[in-house]
Amino acid sequence: MNQRQRADHELGTVVPADGGMPTQREPAEVVAELDDLAVWFPTPTGVVRAVDGVSLRVRRGETLGLVGESGSGKSTTGLALLRLVEPTSGSVRVAGQDVTRWSRRRLRAFRRRVAMVFQDPQASLDPRLTIGASIAEPLIVHRLTDGGAARRRRVDELLGMVGLRSDLADRHPHELSGGQRQRVGIARALAGEPDLIVLDEPIASLDLSVQAQIMNLLRRLQRELRLTYLFIAHDLAAVEHMSDRMAVMYLGRIVESGTPAQIWRDPAHPYTAALLSAVPVADPQVERGRRRIILGGDVPSPVDPPGGCRFRTRCPQARPACAETDPVLTEVDPNHRAACLFAREAVRAMRW
Ligand SMILES: Nc1ncnc2c1ncn2[C@@H]1O[C@H](COP(=O)(O)OP(=O)(O)OP(=O)(O)O)[C@@H](O)[C@H]1O
Ligand SMILES: [Mg+2]
Repeated sequence: MNQRQRADHELGTVVPADGGMPTQREPAEVVAELDDLAVWFPTPTGVVRAVDGVSLRVRRGETLGLVGESGSGKSTTGLALLRLVEPTSGSVRVAGQDVTRWSRRRLRAFRRRVAMVFQDPQASLDPRLTIGASIAEPLIVHRLTDGGAARRRRVDELLGMVGLRSDLADRHPHELSGGQRQRVGIARALAGEPDLIVLDEPIASLDLSVQAQIMNLLRRLQRELRLTYLFIAHDLAAVEHMSDRMAVMYLGRIVESGTPAQIWRDPAHPYTAALLSAVPVADPQVERGRRRIILGGDVPSPVDPPGGCRFRTRCPQARPACAETDPVLTEVDPNHRAACLFAREAVRAMRW
């Protein structure tokens, strides 16, 4: 195990304290685990290092929030957990099985173990299928119900679970609102009783009022069914609200991880501090007194990431050592890690 792997191998040890969960002494079962995962895409202009050394663990019943700017590799990380992208190196374990090198044929049955809910429910539902047929599809593919009557009962049940009336089963996606369509996406994800649900920006395309409803639905379902989520979002406030732990990605790497409280109260990586400084605060007096940290330059290309620390080209606190050493995730507090040579020191020097 290299230093990076060791550093964040423990990412995933905080167990949420809500009802029915195992105590800290008996850590919950690890449902999904990435170990030093890299996913590189060869393109005509070079190899895109979309994910470049990510280790994480998700335990049963918890939500791990994944945040980062566009292009940081969040979706690719999620797709790797469904084995919908080919890992270049590292490993993917789900429900106790190492699926890193499984063939397409072998993956067919496995696909039921991890489900995904996408940002745009319009695009993820087949417009020609009725809602009932869309929800029945995973039941048929994985042979989960015996006969048409049992299938219809299960579709009814799934519609009820996501708060939709059963007569919607005969409608088509275009007849539904955005929020209703996302509920259908969630029902489809629940159909196979997966071990892990990857929620890739599940509320980003919805109206504000609907966003809250969908988040509440996801949280209620998690409590009732003891679901496990990887929650991907741009919106830091949504991640804080939803997650037991969170990880911040930059250019294919996790640069900070911890509980939302640890990260909001005391971010240790300058990139996280910059992201947080851009989140508006409700209290106008606090808001007036705050400083935004404006990052210079653009995100470098993942084809040719900077040597040393990948963030150094935009970091307001970059020092000569940052060009020499590629920092590993290192503990700054129990279960709170940052990949920065000058972790807290750099953030404090930013005086935000
Ligand atoms: N199939 C692919 N072929 C080539 N490059 C890809 C492919 N998929 C993703 N990428 C590139 O990999 C990088 C990471 O993409 P990814 O979609 O994982 O980011 P993301 O964090 O989900 O971004 P967003 O917030 O915009 O959804 C980007 O530079 C993207 O252009
Ligand atoms: Mg994405």
